[in-house]
Amino acid sequence: METFDCIKTRRSCRKYRERQVEFDKIAYLMEAASKAPSSGNLQAYRFILLTEREDIKQLPEICMNQYWIAEAPLVIIVCGDAERVEMTYGLRGERLYVIQDCAAAIQNILLAAHDLGLGACWIGSFEETVIADRFRVPDGVRVQALITVGYPAKAPEPKEEESIETLVYFSKFGNKTENMDVVMREFSKEWVKLVDRADERLERSTKGIKLGAHTGAKGFASKFKEKIAAAKKKKI
Ligand SMILES: Cc1cc2nc3c(=O)[nH]c(=O)nc-3n(C[C@H](O)[C@H](O)[C@H](O)COP(=O)(O)O)c2cc1C
Repeated sequence: METFDCIKTRRSCRKYRERQVEFDKIAYLMEAASKAPSSGNLQAYRFILLTEREDIKQLPEICMNQYWIAEAPLVIIVCGDAERVEMTYGLRGERLYVIQDCAAAIQNILLAAHDLGLGACWIGSFEETVIADRFRVPDGVRVQALITVGYPAKAPEPKEEESIETLVYFSKFGNKTENMDVVMREFSKEWVKLVDRADERLERSTKGIKLGAHTGAKGFASKFKEKIAAAKKKKI
């Protein structure tokens, strides 16, 4: 799958088929996780793989009664070795970097899962100490998240998304632009506007004059617009 298609179409999946996730696919997910950027390349993330039903069935209660988790064929417990990062980066490493390291690894897993046709969900709502106790996570290492993985049993619901315009500022926090089409790499729209404007000007300046040049220019403009529309379809 193309990278950007994978990013755009990934969704959280909370309903899985009974089918187990094959070992080679689990290995692929772990390789994706290990490729994530990490502070100082410390790679302080660690992953506990749960495939036993007995282990997975215990989880909903610890995860604020999210009962659907019990049906997931695979759960990955993502841990961050905060102590290790703290040794290199102090408090900032412990409180911030190790969390970001794990978040990057989690996103890699979610995208790799989607790429394989699997569904996955990031779980942040759980009793951390209970998970740590039950799965023997040592002191100094924090359980950062759980990830459920399996073959999706249904297509995701549509989701509401903030517009890019809301999310993005320019130069300073809060600064907005009117030319969001350009920012969104939808240059084609900008070109269409420019051609329309040039066309109008040409129309005005040649009003009443029968000029071959104008007719030629108009033909050029419409061809140009067609080309832009075609390019837009390809999303260049
Ligand atoms: C830090 C974090 C914690 C989350 N915790 C949960 C959770 O406990 N349970 C759950 O069902 N989804 C959880 N999610 C998934 C979000 O609900 C989901 O990503 C969001 O609704 C956007 O939907 P999407 O992933 O389909 O794009 C969590 C996501 C993040 C980033």
